Amino acid sequence: MLQNDLLLRAAQGEKVERVPVWLMRQAGRVLPEYRAVRSRAKNFIDFVKNSEMAAEVTVQPVTILGVDAAIIFSDILVIPEAMGLPYQMIESKGPWFEKTIVSQADADALRITDGSNLKYVYNAINLAKKELQNSVPLIGFCGAPWTLLAYMVEGSGSKTFSKAKKMLYTQPKLAHQVLEKITQSSINYLKLQVEAGANLIQIFDSWAGVLSPEMHQEFSLRYMSWISDELGKKVPVTIFAKDAHFALPNIKNTSCSVVGLDWSINPVEARKILGASKVLQGNADPCLLYANLEVIEQQTKKMLSVFGNEKYIANLGHGLYPDTEKEKVKFFVDCIKKYSLQLNDEKVHA
Ligand code: CP3
Repeated sequence: MLQNDLLLRAAQGEKVERVPVWLMRQAGRVLPEYRAVRSRAKNFIDFVKNSEMAAEVTVQPVTILGVDAAIIFSDILVIPEAMGLPYQMIESKGPWFEKTIVSQADADALRITDGSNLKYVYNAINLAKKELQNSVPLIGFCGAPWTLLAYMVEGSGSKTFSKAKKMLYTQPKLAHQVLEKITQSSINYLKLQVEAGANLIQIFDSWAGVLSPEMHQEFSLRYMSWISDELGKKVPVTIFAKDAHFALPNIKNTSCSVVGLDWSINPVEARKILGASKVLQGNADPCLLYANLEVIEQQTKKMLSVFGNEKYIANLGHGLYPDTEKEKVKFFVDCIKKYSLQLNDEKVHA
C-alpha cells in the first residue's frame, strides 16, 4: 500500500534495500517553510490545535528533506492538557504550567482521557495521510508517563527535575497513581492515533536520564512497557529513553520493536546489550550538523558501517537544533541514503 515502506519493514526487523532515515524534530524551525506557517498562528498551542497547519508542517520534511517517514506535528504536552492540566509554551523558554501536581487532591482532580478531547490530533493525522498519498509511513507519538509527570510536577523544564524526583521519593504512591492515569490516557490516545492512520508509535522519555536505574525501572519503564504491550499488537513501538543506557538491559525485556539511542552510547555496545531481537534507531549527535560537509559525510559513513544495514533506522540522537542549516540536514539525509546503498553493494561483491 505504501510506496516507500522501508521504515515500517525495518521496524519489524525485516531486511531492507537501504537504511531508512527520519529525524526527530524534522518538522520544526530548521525549515523556513515551517517558520512561515508558524508565523500565521497566534501561538504554539493554537498552531498544534490547527489540524490543517499541523498537517501541512508534518508533510513538509518528507517533500523538502526526502526523509522516509513523517512524524505528526504535535507535542507530548497535549496529554497533560487533555487530563486537566493546561500549559503554555513561552517563546524561547519552553513549557509552563500554571497549576502543578503537589497533593492527593491534585492527583484526584486529574482525569483519565478516553482520547476524545484530542480530535485535533487525529484530524491532523487524517489530513497528513491524505496529503502524503501513501508515499511514506506516518509516526504517531506520546511522551513517556515519567517525562510527562516530570513536567506536571515541576511546572516547567528543569536541569535536575528535583521537585518531580522528590515526589518519587516522598510520595511514591501518589506518583504511581498519577503515572497510571497518564499511562491509561496515553494508551487511549495512541490507539486513536493508530485508528486515524499512524503506522508506528514512538514513546519519548526525554527525562529518563535524571533517574537512577532502579527508579527508572519502577517509575518509567514499567509504564512504557505497559503502553508497548497495548500498542505493539497494532503497530511497531519505539522506546526512546534519552541519556539512559543503564536502562537498555531492561528495555530489552519489553515488547517494543525499536530502541531509540542517543549519541552518548556506542552502537556496538548497544547491540551487545540489546541482542539481535531489537531494531536500533539513532544516534548522530545533532551538533554534527554544525560541521562542514566533509565531516558530516565521514561521520555518517562511519555511523552506518558501525550499525550495519540490518535492523537499523538512521536518525539523530535527539531532536534537530533550530539553528541548524537546512542544507546540512538535507546533506545528512542524502549521505544516509547513498552510503547505506553502498554498504549493500559491498556485501553483494564481498
Ligand atoms: O518533528 C517532530 O519531531 C514532531 C514534532 C514534535 C514537537 N515536540 C514539536 C515542537 C515532537 C515529537 C515533540 C516532542 C516533545 N515535546 C518532547 C520530546 C522530545 C524531546 O525533544 O526530548 C518534549 C520534551 C517536548 C516538550 C517541548 N515542546 C519543549 C521542551 C519545547 C520547547 C523547546 C523548543 O525547542 O522551543 C517544545 C516546543 C516545540 N515542540 C517546538 C516544536 C517544533 C518548538 C516551538 C516552536 O516552533 O515555536
